[in-house]
Amino acid sequence: MANKEGELHSIESGTGTPLALVHGFPFDASIWQGQLEALGDVAHILAPDLPGFGQSAPLPEAGGVSMDAYAEALAAWARDKGLEKIVMLGHSMSGYVAFAFARRHADMLAGLILTNTKATPDTEAGKEGRYKLAAEVEKRGPQAVVDAMLPKLFAPGTEERNPQVVARVRGVMLSQQPQGIIAALHAMAARPDSTPDLSNIHVPTLIISGAQDALMPANEAELMHSRIKDAQHIVIEGAGHLPMLENPAAFNSALRGFLGGF
Ligand code: MLT
Repeated sequence: MANKEGELHSIESGTGTPLALVHGFPFDASIWQGQLEALGDVAHILAPDLPGFGQSAPLPEAGGVSMDAYAEALAAWARDKGLEKIVMLGHSMSGYVAFAFARRHADMLAGLILTNTKATPDTEAGKEGRYKLAAEVEKRGPQAVVDAMLPKLFAPGTEERNPQVVARVRGVMLSQQPQGIIAALHAMAARPDSTPDLSNIHVPTLIISGAQDALMPANEAELMHSRIKDAQHIVIEGAGHLPMLENPAAFNSALRGFLGGF
């Protein structure tokens, strides 16, 4: 582990408006390689590993892991980097983190990109599923998450068109620390409903969804779109839960268009 407790490892490229690309569960900053390579001419792109993922050490157990704790780690990391304001892109779980960041650090937010995420909390059945999966990870390690999630991550056709993307994602999932995975599952189960906060978001916002995302129903993106003032919504065709990897050309073009406005 490269970093001390609570300190975040990150990778970066480019110059311009600072854009933090924050990965979902259970991934790490490496999933943004294609964006770091393609978009460095329009933004200063920074991709952190959340605590307990990639090369970032887990948060201390004592403080408890929560979406708020992840948001605080991101705020401290941004300050350490000398960034006063950032555009934050939150993918899936990190959309939940981005809502916590918007509640706690609105003054640090220049814009928001919410991709393949939702504002609503877990149902009781959803929470139960998280606790069961956490117990499985305790016994079998990250393979338990691969078995539960990998079949749902991609649009039909992605594996045939691009088997190396599926292999790469499997590898990223298997390389995560069980402790980080378990903490995130508990934190997601305990997260609050962010729907009431949507009307308090007053920065330029882009919502991105995958046309065939089996994990995030289309009505969730529509809810965010209807409640966040002047938000744009772009649907990426040929993509499920991971449009940054399944259709990077369309995903990068959506980001490029949005970042041109800063
Ligand atoms: C993610 O990709 O971050 C997760 O699928 C989010 C979730 O399980 O709610």
